[in-house]
Amino acid sequence: MKGPTGEIILTPDGSRTALSLRFGEAYGSRHGAAAHARHVFVEGTGTHEHPAPRVLEVGFGLGANFRATLAEVARRGVPLDYLAFEFDPVPAGVLREVAAGGEGSRHPAWLALLDRWGQGSPLSVQTEAVTLTVSFADVRTAPLPENWATALCLDGFSPARNPEVWTPVFLTRLARSLAPGGVLATYSAAGHVRRALAAAGLSVEKRPGPPGKRECVRAVRRVCP
Ligand SMILES: C[S@@+](CC[C@H](N)C(=O)[O-])C[C@H]1O[C@@H](n2cnc3c(N)ncnc32)[C@H](O)[C@@H]1O
Repeated sequence: MKGPTGEIILTPDGSRTALSLRFGEAYGSRHGAAAHARHVFVEGTGTHEHPAPRVLEVGFGLGANFRATLAEVARRGVPLDYLAFEFDPVPAGVLREVAAGGEGSRHPAWLALLDRWGQGSPLSVQTEAVTLTVSFADVRTAPLPENWATALCLDGFSPARNPEVWTPVFLTRLARSLAPGGVLATYSAAGHVRRALAAAGLSVEKRPGPPGKRECVRAVRRVCP
């Protein structure tokens, strides 16, 4: 079987991403991988303003969203609890090469992750302010926390290539992991994705997309009175 990654791609904002051979798509945006992570996921979920974010991620991939989040919480000096799922981990060398010199790449939590990558599941990292857990499991069948996440990064490959993580049944389950007021963000603004998020009880909004993309989506779990 093919390994998960092909060529490493340099993107216009100077950050790198890579091609997935299994899914035939890039892990991050070819129009600017770091800008995409920051705009769609860090700002889209409101993590850039949250005093103590708890982030759930579907698809750890190359760790671009995690590094963008690390850079943001380090800048503000706030704690972070991050739980990610990944069923097809890339080799540590790919993580290292994609991240080299990029945001978050010198953070102690990122360096600890590189040290421990490939040594069993879940991978756990605890630094002074950051708790990271990466579960190397299929998120569709893994236990998920309930009423927990302030931010949910729904970052599977596209609905066309990776439809299993965009189904109404899975999105309904995923929505339950959001704390009241928590925000799910995703790059897909496809009608069927927005309808499934609304059917899961979330308030869905389109917002302007990152470079190369017209729109993306945020979906909020209402706070009950
Ligand atoms: C678009 S990439 C994610 C990029 C990543 N968020 C980043 O910041 O680099 C999608 C990822 O989701 C993972 N994935 C897809 N379906 C999954 C599933 N059912 N369970 C766990 N991981 C899954 C893929 O293996 C891939 O690494």
